[in-house]
Amino acid sequence: MFRRSLSHLHGVCRGVPILSGRPGAFFSSSSSSRILNPYPPREGESDEINRVSPSTTTISVDRSGLYNPTDHFHKPSGDSELVKHLKSIIKFRGGPISVAEYMEEVLTNPHCGFYINRDVFGAGGDFITSPEVSQMFGEMIGVWTMCLWEQMGRPRKVNLVELGPGRGTLMADLLRSSSKFVEFVKSLDIHLVECSPTLQKIQHSNLRCVDEVSYCDNAATRTTTSLNGAPIFWHADLEEVPSGLPSIILAHEFYDALPIHQFQKTSRGWCEKMVDVTEDSSANVLLLKQVPLFLSPPPPATSLYLRRRCQWADEEEIAKLEQIEVCPKALELTHRIAKRISVDGGGALIIDYGKNEVIADSLQAIQKHKFVNILDSPGSADLSAYVDFAAIRHSAQAASENISVHGPITQSQLLASLGINFRVEALLRSCTHEQAESLRTGYWQLVGDGEAPFWEGPEEQTPIGTGTRYLAMAIVNKKQGVPIPFE
Ligand SMILES: C[S@@+](CC[C@H](N)C(=O)[O-])C[C@H]1O[C@@H](n2cnc3c(N)ncnc32)[C@H](O)[C@@H]1O
Repeated sequence: MFRRSLSHLHGVCRGVPILSGRPGAFFSSSSSSRILNPYPPREGESDEINRVSPSTTTISVDRSGLYNPTDHFHKPSGDSELVKHLKSIIKFRGGPISVAEYMEEVLTNPHCGFYINRDVFGAGGDFITSPEVSQMFGEMIGVWTMCLWEQMGRPRKVNLVELGPGRGTLMADLLRSSSKFVEFVKSLDIHLVECSPTLQKIQHSNLRCVDEVSYCDNAATRTTTSLNGAPIFWHADLEEVPSGLPSIILAHEFYDALPIHQFQKTSRGWCEKMVDVTEDSSANVLLLKQVPLFLSPPPPATSLYLRRRCQWADEEEIAKLEQIEVCPKALELTHRIAKRISVDGGGALIIDYGKNEVIADSLQAIQKHKFVNILDSPGSADLSAYVDFAAIRHSAQAASENISVHGPITQSQLLASLGINFRVEALLRSCTHEQAESLRTGYWQLVGDGEAPFWEGPEEQTPIGTGTRYLAMAIVNKKQGVPIPFE
């Protein structure tokens, strides 16, 4: 029997869908704040790793509230800066905006987007992600990265790029766990692609960065991580990452934050769902509402992406669907990744929740660990959608003949093949009772499927495994051969 740890964290994972028939399906995690570091401590470091925020706050999750209303009714929200901005765009246009525009403004508006000004992760935030659940996640991704580097012929210099690093936890665990491999470490230029200035600062701190003024370089500031001495650079977009060096690109829970268009089948063909404002006469306020625009077909650029997505699928698959989501930004990003890898060499690992097929209707909003309506309090709730891995594969393959695409496989297959079972056993041999419980629940959350069978604590805190919900796909230069463990 496991004793509950005193210091623990519960949270909703973005990858757990609101299942019909089981409205309470969600992710609840429990992690202690410190777990033994199996790797030799660096100078000045303790032999323990600060894993998650040492907060003792418990967030109780109300299961009854966890469902995704199909009609997008919503309670009125006060006019925040973002709501005013959205309304002014709609007014200026003289018509509604697409769900994609809405999602992009809500998440990444440079003044008031969801990610821009706050730390949205963990107990005090809105949701929790795999790197925050357990250090083993970043360590296993480190194993994958080093294996690919070996397959690439141990290049002397490599760009290690992470898209959307959140708190920088995955990268920190990767760097700590690989710090003994001197040649690998020496080869690294680390590039973090992050749109949020707030999260950039948190990454800077969690990666224990040191800024130095380099007088040989026109007094430019050079930043290195004291986790292994590698230089770190920040960018707002992948395009800013210098090309010319082989790249290893990691994207964990990045694609699901990219804006999607939603289409609805009508008697007049596919029409795009839009976001508009409507007057609530009782409250005398303007409310955001989602409308399927039955009379207005999507604009030509958007239709192009819809047509392309339909061409990639079987006619029968499309015929069965009443709704379709398409993410042009995901297709464009994949195209750029594949092009870069085809020219410079290297590979990319994409891990996210999603499916290997056309996605129908998956957009969800999470605020303070509860699912809410997508139109409620824009900018205060996270928006995310299932990733269409089949479309990613087609987009990568269309970009170049020099690359190969592998997977998707489940997260549980990926982590098991990379050695998470040995890792958890090694950690369990030298930890406290409390840490053992945390390790077991974290392990289950990463590789398990559904509710943890061993759980004897409160039902509402049952750890939910996401090992089959999250999928992993690799895109590599064909010269590198098949990446581990996609053989
Ligand atoms: C869901 S979080 C995932 C964070 C991290 N990978 C993890 O698993 O904990 C998405 C991350 O991508 C960043 N992001 C979202 N959209 C972005 C964009 N268009 N450009 C750059 N960064 C973006 C967010 O600020 C955040 O760091």
